[in-house]
Amino acid sequence: MAADFAGETALLYARYRRDLPADQTRALVEHLGLRADDVVVDLGCGTGQLAVPVREHCAGVLALDPEPGMLAGLRAGDVPGILCVLGTDRDLPELRRRLTDRVGVGAVLIGNALHWMDEPAALAGCADLLRPGGRIAVITQGPPMWLGPAAWQQSVRQVLERFFGPVSATCGSDSAALQLRVGTLEELGLDVQVATWRAEHDVDADWVIGHLGSALPAGALQVRTPGGPADAVGTALDQHAGPLVEAVTTTAVIARRPTKAA
Ligand SMILES: C[S@@+](CC[C@H](N)C(=O)[O-])C[C@H]1O[C@@H](n2cnc3c(N)ncnc32)[C@H](O)[C@@H]1O
Repeated sequence: MAADFAGETALLYARYRRDLPADQTRALVEHLGLRADDVVVDLGCGTGQLAVPVREHCAGVLALDPEPGMLAGLRAGDVPGILCVLGTDRDLPELRRRLTDRVGVGAVLIGNALHWMDEPAALAGCADLLRPGGRIAVITQGPPMWLGPAAWQQSVRQVLERFFGPVSATCGSDSAALQLRVGTLEELGLDVQVATWRAEHDVDADWVIGHLGSALPAGALQVRTPGGPADAVGTALDQHAGPLVEAVTTTAVIARRPTKAA
């Protein structure tokens, strides 16, 4: 499924996408070796699912995204120390020239967004921003909800495919994409490690439909149309007895710039 992240999609994104859980944020910050005086860049920040939880662990976050609606959602949270910038991965070289020639940033985060970019160029641009010892973290929380293994998730997938056709894209969360990223980062001369964390969340039909709306162009779910996609998802979920549990695996590919040239 494709999203343009504008309008209603951005509003739903702010409401129905979770921030990185607190325990995973602590583990990530440890892997990043963040210092209190570090600036962090969050590339493809959305409405702040990484920027907000990481903010308290560093001096400030520069949050980049090309979608004004997403940045508006992040700004609405009014978290001090997060600077929102309208931009894309293609702006990384300019960012480097303007901001980091002498110092370098402590970390660049990319959450669920690298698959929207020219991956090798974006990762090279991120590596250029780092201070010695700084790190890139490419984070996925996948697979997408509708590709999960639970019976209710399979029902959601069936409904989506009935309305929208195949929805098999993993949004960069599959193991082939991960291996490619590890290889690209190693070729850039970075030391790479991979961490995974798992969380389980109780969800309900409202959450599932809102979350799906955050992954689709505005209006695609036709929420007020009887027999439309949102209605059909609700009906399908009604068939499942007991709580709906979403198991989410977070994968972080963490790549460190060596402190001395090899
Ligand atoms: C699925 S959202 C991820 C948001 C958030 N980082 C998260 O972890 O949930 C993908 C984001 O990438 C942004 N994006 C798309 N193309 C981009 C590009 N070329 N450079 C930077 N961000 C981009 C979109 O506007 C969107 O906000």
